[in-house]
Amino acid sequence: MNHLLRVDGATVDYTTRHGATRALDGANLTIAPGERVGLVGESGSGKSTLGLLVGRLLPAGARVGGTITVDGRDVLSLRPGDLRALRREVLGFVPQDPVGALDPTLRVGRQMRLALRGSAGEDGNPADLLERVRIDRPDRVLRLYPHEISGGMAQRIVIATVMAAAPRLLVADEPTAALDAQSREEVTGLVMDLAESEGTSVLWLSHDLRAVGRWCDRTAVMYGGRVVEDGSTRAVLDDPRHPYTRALSRSDPAHAVPGRRLPAIVGGPPTLVAGAPGCAFAPRCPRAVADCEGHRPLPLTVDGRTVLCLRPETETTVPSDVKAAS
Ligand SMILES: Nc1ncnc2c1ncn2[C@@H]1O[C@H](COP(=O)(O)OP(=O)(O)OP(=O)(O)O)[C@@H](O)[C@H]1O
Ligand SMILES: [Mg+2]
Repeated sequence: MNHLLRVDGATVDYTTRHGATRALDGANLTIAPGERVGLVGESGSGKSTLGLLVGRLLPAGARVGGTITVDGRDVLSLRPGDLRALRREVLGFVPQDPVGALDPTLRVGRQMRLALRGSAGEDGNPADLLERVRIDRPDRVLRLYPHEISGGMAQRIVIATVMAAAPRLLVADEPTAALDAQSREEVTGLVMDLAESEGTSVLWLSHDLRAVGRWCDRTAVMYGGRVVEDGSTRAVLDDPRHPYTRALSRSDPAHAVPGRRLPAIVGGPPTLVAGAPGCAFAPRCPRAVADCEGHRPLPLTVDGRTVLCLRPETETTVPSDVKAAS
């Protein structure tokens, strides 16, 4: 199959004051042209690390292994000029903090023009670009400084600028986390509509299972620096096969039933080290057996999706009220 993005066995290690930590532990992921993939998983599971790795944007000091291919190019061995061209021509990044992504010293219009220099969006009129993200009176907004606009407006400006360059792959790292519920809905819809009209593939890093369920064709679930379940969104979120996906889905606030306490996932996230044996979820897993501690699970195809688990769930286990909510 022709993939726009292919991540094979990606590892990322850091050395910190507290010793060695592993942020990615052999993550695999593919994205086809035009596909929208949601990447979910609890804090620290490695979502941002994987998203940044796609553009080789990790901080200095990150030691990286595995293979990343974008549009047929081997990202980890590109020379600096070719890497810049890849970022400019193929990739687009929308960060979590939109205001932080803007330069506080420049008016909106000027920084949009600077950001688009040398890209496919260079000739675009900034006012037209702002209209595409439904900003009223764009000429007025172009004259404002970042501190004069709201978070929702800033995120629309960032999205308008990134999408003007017509990226083939958009990596969006929780771009709506700082917004109120209504802006979140609108901004997500905008990104997805723009992506669809441009044929842009989307890698959407999110904690919002409901939004991923609504907008993404495929869902990949991360745990302990690996993608532990990956398949169609309906299969993965409505009928999980990995015990972690099941626990994540059940503990999602969007699935809360009034008067009933949400089940939390017992224990804490793992601290990873290179070469650790076994499944990282085993200490918290209700289905774990002795083998799970000693054997690293290999990818299995189960009911049309890929699962990294020695003992995947075998039947529908999510209560029907959860399905109805998604
Ligand atoms: N620069 C760094 N130095 C050391 N460790 C790091 C660094 N960046 C990330 N890590 C570690 O890598 C792991 C994965 O972090 P990452 O930010 O990718 O998780 P995440 O899934 O994006 O979490 P969140 O949902 O909170 O955004 C964590 O254990 C984190 O502490
Ligand atoms: Mg993150």
